[in-house]
Order: sequence, then C-alpha cells, then structure tokens
Amino acid sequence: MSVINSKDVINIIRKALNLIDYRLVNHGERVGYILYKMMQYENAYSEKEILDYTISGLFHDIGAYKTEEIDNLVKFETNNVLGHSIYGYLFFKYLSPLDDFAEAILYHHIDYDKLIKLDSKHKPIAEYLNLADRIDVYKISSKQALDPNLFLNQRDKKFSGRALELFQNAQKEYKIIEHIEDDSYIIELNQLMESATFNSTEKEMFLYMLAYSIDFRSEYTVMHNIATVSIADELGKLMNLSLEDQYNLHYGALLHDIGKITTPLDILEAPRKLTYDEMMIMKQHVAMSEAILKDYIEPDIMEIAIRHHEKLDGSGYHKGLTAEQLTLPQRILAVTDIISALSGKRSYKDSFDDEIIIKILTKDANDGKLDKDVVECVIANLDKLLSDSEDKCSVTLFIYQDINNKFKEIYNQISNLH
Ligand SMILES: [Fe+2]
Ligand SMILES: [Fe+2]
Ligand SMILES: [Fe+2]
Repeated sequence: MSVINSKDVINIIRKALNLIDYRLVNHGERVGYILYKMMQYENAYSEKEILDYTISGLFHDIGAYKTEEIDNLVKFETNNVLGHSIYGYLFFKYLSPLDDFAEAILYHHIDYDKLIKLDSKHKPIAEYLNLADRIDVYKISSKQALDPNLFLNQRDKKFSGRALELFQNAQKEYKIIEHIEDDSYIIELNQLMESATFNSTEKEMFLYMLAYSIDFRSEYTVMHNIATVSIADELGKLMNLSLEDQYNLHYGALLHDIGKITTPLDILEAPRKLTYDEMMIMKQHVAMSEAILKDYIEPDIMEIAIRHHEKLDGSGYHKGLTAEQLTLPQRILAVTDIISALSGKRSYKDSFDDEIIIKILTKDANDGKLDKDVVECVIANLDKLLSDSEDKCSVTLFIYQDINNKFKEIYNQISNLH
C-alpha cells in the first residue's frame, strides 16, 4: 500500500507555505536552519528535540495566512505580528503532534525585555527564533550582506544576550550565512528531515493542521474539508473500493483543496457568487495543489486530489479530462466535492436540502458529467452520509470555536505585557 512518509508530510507543508506569498519564499526554511545550527552549536538538546524544534522553526509563520499580516512580516520594523504568532501557536498546540513545542511559536516576536517576565520552558528557543527571524527578514528587506554583529546594540532589549552570542559562535563555526547564500543549507535541512518518524496519526494531524491554516477563519472551508473526507471515506467503502484505493481516496480528499492556500481571501470568502474573473482565479487552486503535491506524494493520491473538478464529458477543469481517463476513486471524489459543497452553509446561502442535492446530482449524472453508479449509491445512502459528516463537522466546529475563543484570550494577555 502506498504510504506518505514523514519527511514528505513535512515537505508538503513546506511547499504549501512557500507558495503563500512570493516575498516569504523559503523564509521558514532559512529561519528553521539558523535555529537548527544555533541548537547544534549549543549542544544542549537531544537529536529528537533538535528535529522537533527545527520543524517548529520551519513552520513558525504557519498562522500567517492572513494576507495583511504577510505584508507586515516582510517589513523589518513592525508591531502588528501578534495575530499570526497566536494562530501558529494554537495550530501547533491543538492540531499538531508537536503540541509541546507550540510556545516557541507563540513568543517568536516578543522582545526579550518582555519575554523575560513570562514563564515558559521554551523561552530560550523563542529567543533564538526571534533573532533568526529578524536576521532573515533584515536580509530580505535590505538585500545587503549580513554583518553578524548587526543586532548587538539591541542586546537585552529586543534580543537576549545568549541568543546573540550563540548566533555569533554558530556563525563562526558553521558559516550559516554563507550556506544560506549558496543554497547549500537546503541539503542539510533535508538530511535532518530524513530522520523524522511520525506515525500515521501524527502525519494526518500535520496535514489537517495545514488544511486548517489555509483558511482558518473561513469556517465554511474547514467544514467543507472535514465533510469531504467523511463522505469520501464512506462512499469508498460503499462502492467496494480496494483497501489501497480507500486509503488513496482518503488522502486525496484530505488534500483536495490544498492549493487554496494561494487563493486570495476576498475571493475565498466572497459573500456572493464569484464574477468570471474571480472564478478564473479560484479555479487555479487545482494547479496549485498539483504544484504542492507532485514531488512528495504518490501519483495515485495526487491525481485523486487534483481531478475533483473534472467531468466525465470533458467539461470540467483543470485539464478537461474525459470518462476513460477518470478512475472510480477520482469519480467518487468529484461527486463528494459537490455533495459537500451543496450541504455546507455559506455566508450567502443556507445548506441545500436533500431533495435539491438529489436533483442536481441526478441531472449531472444524466447529462454525462458525473458517474451514474456513484450518484445512485449516494442517493440510496444520502441520509447516513450527511448525518455522519455533520457529526464529524460538529466536533471540528467545536475545536474551531474553541481556538477562536482562545485566540482572543491570549491576544489580550500578550498585548497587555509591559
Ligand atoms: Fe513571524
Ligand atoms: Fe517569520
Ligand atoms: Fe476544489
């Protein structure tokens, strides 16, 4: 059976984050690398801790999907960075297997003179992460060769003495900046990632974390993803897919809209039908999913994920494939995506009731767009498919709302630090 290995789960998230905004490409990787080399020099952490902290470093800006904050992140001087630190923390804490490392992300933009008043065992790493982040952003925004002494006048104010000294020593020993400049750091980082060993639950958590981070504030899209996985899992069994196909369908469903990480939020959340131009931009999410997944995941899974808008008569996108090219798992996901979209609530529409869903699916099947057997199976089981997916969504909704409440709480706590 095809298996997504641990390093490729990490790679999918790296690739997706790199595509969010061209100005931040590889930012997480450079920051993760600087942090890695600082920890290596310090020699105070186990191999596993170094790996886990480095992964936290790679994904330290995972909460930054909010576009306005990305604008702020690429500026050197900015105060408005709290939101993404908190979201990143909450994603790590509640949705990733690295929950224990989340505080390093929460505090990665807190000045040292404030950080010192907080109580957390992750303070040293937060200090290193803060410095590593500023070093990289300074390099991006100034485009100048980096002077390793640059930040010394901020000692004990923005940055801790131990972080500054550690960076200077690690830089002397390992030539960190030079490795970043000639891109050889990527090889070293990839070697480190080879040692990652997550079990299947942990891998799945990482992928869900990514799905959440794509449009965390869009309740609809999170629910759409959960419903799609739930319905696809059940339909796969009902249609007697082999275990391998069921596995592929599950991951294909989980990853099917991953390319939406690059879709602008105003289009993703437009409270109305999209205009033609907006629709064209929306449709690009499939090509983006392909770009994210193609090097890291079995083609069988990727093709299920990226063919969910294809139609049997060739009228779908993004390749306009036809019936003979579309496998049963791919056809199942295409039907599932429609059910999940129709049964979901959006700001401008309520969920459609069963009769309308059946009418739309039947028409598409009769018009030769959707697979008749799959649609028949859906109609025979619609009640159960929808009620099971609703149950799963209500669990997720609870987590979602809980995270949003915690966001406000933590925001108030941290912004009151003096
Ligand atoms: Fe950040
Ligand atoms: Fe950053
Ligand atoms: Fe889609």
